[in-house]
Amino acid sequence: MQRADIVEIIGSRIQLKKAGREYKACCPFHGERTPSFTVSPAKGFYHCFGCGVHGTVLDFLMQYDRLDFVAAVEELALRLGLEVPREAGAQRPAGLDPLYALLDRAAGHFEKALRRHPQAIDYLRSRGLDGDIARSFRIGYAAAGWDGLLRELGEDDKTRQQLLAAGLVIGREDGSGHYDRFRDRIMFPIRDRRGRVLGFGGRVLGGGEPKYLNSPETAVFHKGQELYGLYEACQAERRLASLLVVEGYMDTVMLARHGIRNVVATLGTATTGEHLRRLFRIVPEIIFCFDGDRAGRAAAWRALHAALPEIRDGRQARFLFLPEGEDPDSLVRREGAAGFAERMAGATSLSDYLLAELQQQAGTDSLDGRARLAELARPLLEMLPAGVYRELLTDQLAQRVGLPGQRLSAALGEEPARPARKTRQAASARRSGRVSLVGQAIALVLNYPAMAAGLEYPPALATARVKGAALLAELLQLVRDHPQLSAGALLERFRERPEWQHLQALLAVTVPISEDGARAELGDSLLRILAQDREERLALLVARAGTGQLSAEEKAEFRELQRANPHDIR
Ligand code: CTP
Ligand code: MN
Repeated sequence: MQRADIVEIIGSRIQLKKAGREYKACCPFHGERTPSFTVSPAKGFYHCFGCGVHGTVLDFLMQYDRLDFVAAVEELALRLGLEVPREAGAQRPAGLDPLYALLDRAAGHFEKALRRHPQAIDYLRSRGLDGDIARSFRIGYAAAGWDGLLRELGEDDKTRQQLLAAGLVIGREDGSGHYDRFRDRIMFPIRDRRGRVLGFGGRVLGGGEPKYLNSPETAVFHKGQELYGLYEACQAERRLASLLVVEGYMDTVMLARHGIRNVVATLGTATTGEHLRRLFRIVPEIIFCFDGDRAGRAAAWRALHAALPEIRDGRQARFLFLPEGEDPDSLVRREGAAGFAERMAGATSLSDYLLAELQQQAGTDSLDGRARLAELARPLLEMLPAGVYRELLTDQLAQRVGLPGQRLSAALGEEPARPARKTRQAASARRSGRVSLVGQAIALVLNYPAMAAGLEYPPALATARVKGAALLAELLQLVRDHPQLSAGALLERFRERPEWQHLQALLAVTVPISEDGARAELGDSLLRILAQDREERLALLVARAGTGQLSAEEKAEFRELQRANPHDIR
């Protein structure tokens, strides 16, 4: 492994500063104000003198991205443009592999069908697409009729159940079988960073409704996290400098058709923090692209809010507003690649956009207006992580308000202590992306109490040795007993307890935006927590066995745990 890579990999996740032959940062694994985390490219090693964490680039990926060993190897390989060695990949438990395999076969089926249906090819041609682009995005066609896919792939009952789990077929209401979800539609496969198909978007050929149909949330497909075209963009250019975030499938493929390959699309959802963290791990600059109409402006403002917690020195977000009534597809057709690239180059910086927008909201001319501007800016500046960028923006704002930067900072700091702490904690939990498995599960329960109320949870959870598991079990029982409780009412019950602050912060953690997605994730988390519990207990017993201290009872437990070790868990 090349030694310099450790700086690149860690540096794309946290802010590193060169200090002699090493690099320094505030440790991402414990809270600190003066940097004691060092990365040594020569040794290929990181070490924190504050909390003692240390390791190789792989350890860092496992800890920071919360990956298992195999996934960390894969992440590293992706970053370096290497093939993953087969043995490494083969160790991954098989749980979701059949689902991935089935989705891949479905994509192949739709690709084949496209070749056999001239009307679908004609439609794509009429939109200006060519075969090369269709191939590189694996664009396909779902034929009209109710069971084209079902007949080809649903050979037995088990596969039909998997087709259902993959969101490709729908169960008939009377229970008499299934039918294809996607019919007579152009099919856009949505792939993860490794190119595995996770789901599909399907567009009608003409003017039917709904224009787009998307895969539902499944065990592998989470709309609020995936970005259409990310795999293809990474394939097209090894070293991407920036990524443009657009709204549509068609926008992505049409820009690619014109040679603009660094484009991804959100899947009919607003941009989430999860999206942005994913993108900022790959590129230092994100350009958001929006329609110039009112809806577009509202979406941009929301995107700005999602972006603020992720911004820091060395990371940039910019905003590109298109003329009203245009989308990237129509514009690149009209103006060509050069015209569109010029617009991208002229995109507004986040700070300019933020200040202009606030100024407009505040009407700055009067003294009153300037005070309002400062007031409006405060919560936004607070969403930025502390650092040079936040200071720069505060200074810029000070200029517009007509106050020296320091005085403005001081003015902005004059908040009642408690709410300020709350916001910061919440923002930092969200921003760090390092919420524990249990924390994430609790966040899901708090955000979807009614969903969680309907969930069968394993009784073993309450006694699991994983930190926080008992609290999670308590919450699950609470929503079961009182399914009508809102998140706020749930939290109220903990106000007098030490967990209260922590729960508040967890409420702000990013969770899937659909209930189905949340349910799938929560179910998955519960399994994983139990697996973790088993592993920890096993490790303990193994250690004790090593010194010959195991009682008969413990030996029985050991055998029991080994038997129960599930392999269907990621
Ligand atoms: N979308 C969706 N469901 C819909 C409409 C839209 O999920 N019923 C999502 C799709 O991801 C779509 C994006 O929102 O790509 C943008 O929608 P829109 O602008 O209406 O479509 P375009 O992508 O421009 O597609 P086209 O040019 O083919 O009309
Ligand atoms: Mn369009």
